Amino acid sequence: MNKRLLYVSCCIIACITILSQCINKAEKNEAAFRGPQYAGAAACAGCHKNIFDTYMGTAHYHTSMPANTSTVKGSFAAPDHTFTYDSATKVVMEARDSGLFQAAYNNDVPQESHRFDIVVGSGRKAQTYLYWQAGKYFQLPLSYFVPAHSWANSPGFPADHPKFDRMIPSTCFGCHSSMVAKSTDMQGVHIVESFEKNQVVYGIDCERCHGPAAEHVQFQSSHPQEKKAMYMTRIAELKNQQKLDMCALCHSGLGTPQKSMFDFKPGDALSGYFFPEFTAPKRTAQMDVHGTQYQLFTASKCFMKSNDMNCSSCHNPHNSESNNMELFSQRCMHCHNTASHNFCKLAELPANILAKNCIDCHMPALPSANITLLTNGKQSPTPDSIRTHLITIYKEETKKVLARLKQAS
Ligand code: HEC
Ligand code: HEC
Ligand code: HEC
Ligand code: HEC
Ligand code: HEC
Ligand code: HEC
Ligand code: HEC
Repeated sequence: MNKRLLYVSCCIIACITILSQCINKAEKNEAAFRGPQYAGAAACAGCHKNIFDTYMGTAHYHTSMPANTSTVKGSFAAPDHTFTYDSATKVVMEARDSGLFQAAYNNDVPQESHRFDIVVGSGRKAQTYLYWQAGKYFQLPLSYFVPAHSWANSPGFPADHPKFDRMIPSTCFGCHSSMVAKSTDMQGVHIVESFEKNQVVYGIDCERCHGPAAEHVQFQSSHPQEKKAMYMTRIAELKNQQKLDMCALCHSGLGTPQKSMFDFKPGDALSGYFFPEFTAPKRTAQMDVHGTQYQLFTASKCFMKSNDMNCSSCHNPHNSESNNMELFSQRCMHCHNTASHNFCKLAELPANILAKNCIDCHMPALPSANITLLTNGKQSPTPDSIRTHLITIYKEETKKVLARLKQAS
C-alpha cells in the first residue's frame, strides 16, 4: 500500500473513532441524569441479544417516545386532521417545519397552538400527547383513539372547548417512563414540580424492572468466562409476593406514592412505595385504563387456590404476545386439563374449540367506566375496553361468544 493511502485511511479511521465516541457520549449524556449506576438498555444487547430484540417490540418499550411523524399515530392530512367542537371552534393537527402541532381556531382565526413533544401510550389502544413549556409538562387536548382510528377529546377534558392547561405530574412518568429529571419547590403548602426539557429516559427499560445494572455490565464484560450473573437480583429466588409487586408497582391503579416510584427495585415491597388505601371500592368498579390487574387477578380463584401464581404464569415480560388467544389458552391448560379433571365444564363446545380461546369467556374485554373518549362528530363517548383479570364465569359473555361461533360456522 502506498504511504499516502495509508496516511489517509489512518485519518479516516481516527475520525470515525472520534466521531463514534462523540455519538456515544451524546447518547450517554442524554441519560446521564439517571445516575452512573445505570447502564442503559443498549448495553444489554451484546450479551442478552434475544431478549433485547423481542423486548424492542413490546408495549413497555414504546409506552413513551419523543413525538415525531413516525411515533404519532393520528393523521395530519385533511379532512381527518380536524377535531370539531362546534361550528366555530376546532383544533387542527398541523405538521410544520418546527414540528407537529395542535392548533386551535375560532371562526378560522388562529388561537392557541402547542407542539407535540412527548407521546404517552404505545398505541395499542390510545395515545395522548404532552408539550413542555417553562419547566412544566401539559397534556394536549386531543388524543388518538386506535379502535376508532380517530382523534378524540382527551379523557376527562371538556367537550365544548380545547383546554391546553392540564398540567402533568411526575407520577405519569413514574408508570410510563424509566426516569424523568425533576426538581421540586414549595409554594405555600403545595409542592410544585419542574422538569428539564427532554430529560426523559423513554419507555420502560430493562433496568426499570431489573434495577440499576452498570456494575453487572462492568463485571460480566471484564469476566467473559463467568456464566453466573453477578450484581443482579435473581428474580427466580424472590418470594412470590415480591415478584407480584414488581408488576403491581404500575399495574395496581393510581395510589398515592410515598416515595419516588423510580427507586423501586426487584425485591422491594410495594407497601413501602404507596400509602395504604383505606377505602376499597368494589373490585370490578375500580377498573380503568390504568388497569388494576393486580387487584383483580389476586381476587381470582386461580390465584387464591394455587401457591405461586404470578403475572409471569401467563405473561412473558420480554415479548409482545398481545391478541394471541391460543397461546394464552395453552397457559391456562398448564393447570386446567382433562388429565387433572379440572378442564372447562361448559358442555356446549368440544374441547378442541374451547382450547382455542378460554380468554373471551373467562377474561372478557369489558368497557371501562372511567376512560371514555369522544371521537370527532360523535354525540356520546366510546368507552375504552379492558381485559378483566378477574378470572371467573361470565354467563352473558359466554352467550355472546357462542352466538359468534354459531354465526361463523
Ligand atoms: C458482558 C455480558 C453481559 C452484559 C453486557 C449484560 N449481562 Fe446480564 N448476564 C450476563 C450473564 C453471563 C448472565 C448469567 C447467565 C444468564 O442468565 O444469561 C446474566 C444474567 C442476567 C440476568 C438474570 C439474573 C438471574 O440469574 O436471574 C439479568 C436480569 C440480567 N443479566 C440483566 C442485564 C441487564 C439489564 C443488562 C444491561 C443493563 C445486562 N444484563 C447486561 C452477562 C451480561
Ligand atoms: C399507576 C401507573 C400509571 C399512571 C400513574 C399512569 N398510567 Fe397510563 N397506563 C398505565 C397502565 C398499566 C396502562 C395499560 C393498562 C391497560 O391496558 O389495561 C396505561 C395505559 C395508558 C394509555 C393507553 C396506552 C395504550 O396504547 O393502550 C395512555 C394513553 C396512558 N396510559 C396515558 C397516561 C397519562 C397521560 C398519565 C398521566 C396523567 C398516565 N397514563 C398515568 C399505568 C399508569
Ligand atoms: C416489565 C419488566 C421487565 C422488563 C422491561 C425486562 N425484564 Fe427481564 N425479566 C423480568 C421478569 C419478571 C423476569 C423473570 C421471568 C420469569 O419469572 O419467568 C425476567 C427475567 C430476565 C432474565 C433471566 C431469565 C431469562 O429469561 O433468561 C434476563 C437475562 C433478563 N430478564 C434480561 C432483561 C433484559 C436484558 C431486558 C431489556 C432488554 C429486560 N430483561 C427487560 C422483567 C422484565
Ligand atoms: C414502570 C411501570 C410498569 C411496570 C414495572 C410494569 N408495567 Fe406493564 N405496563 C405499563 C404501562 C404504562 C403499560 C401500557 C403500555 C402501553 O403504552 O401500551 C403496560 C402494559 C402491560 C401489558 C399490556 C401490553 C402487552 O404487552 O400485552 C402487559 C401484559 C404488562 N404490562 C405486564 C406487565 C408485567 C407482567 C409486569 C411485571 C413483570 C409489568 N407489566 C411491569 C407499566 C409497567
Ligand atoms: C397455576 C395454575 C392455574 C392457571 C395457570 C390457571 N388457573 Fe384457573 N384455577 C386454578 C385453580 C387452582 C382454581 C381453583 C379451582 C377450585 O376451586 O377447585 C382455578 C379456578 C378457575 C376457574 C373457576 C373460577 C370461579 O370463580 O369459579 C376458572 C373459570 C378458571 N380457573 C379459568 C382459568 C383460565 C381461563 C386460565 C387462563 C387465562 C386459568 N384459569 C389459568 C389454577 C390455575
Ligand atoms: C391467568 C393468566 C394471566 C395472568 C396470571 C395475568 N394475566 Fe394479564 N392478561 C392475560 C390475558 C389472556 C390477557 C389478554 C391479552 C390480549 O388481549 O392480548 C392479559 C392482558 C393484560 C394486560 C393488557 C390489558 C388490556 O386490556 O389491554 C395487562 C396490562 C396485563 N395483562 C397485566 C397483567 C399483570 C400486571 C398481571 C399480574 C398482576 C397479569 N396480567 C396476570 C392473562 C393473564
Ligand atoms: C364459550 C365460552 C367458554 C370457553 C371458550 C371456555 N369456557 Fe370455561 N366455562 C364456561 C362456562 C359458562 C362455565 C360454567 C359451566 C357450568 O358450570 O355449566 C365454564 C366452566 C369452567 C371451569 C369450571 C369452573 C368451576 O365451576 O369449577 C373452568 C376451570 C374453566 N371453565 C376453564 C376454562 C378453560 C381453561 C378454557 C380454555 C381451555 C375454557 N374454560 C374455555 C365458558 C367457557
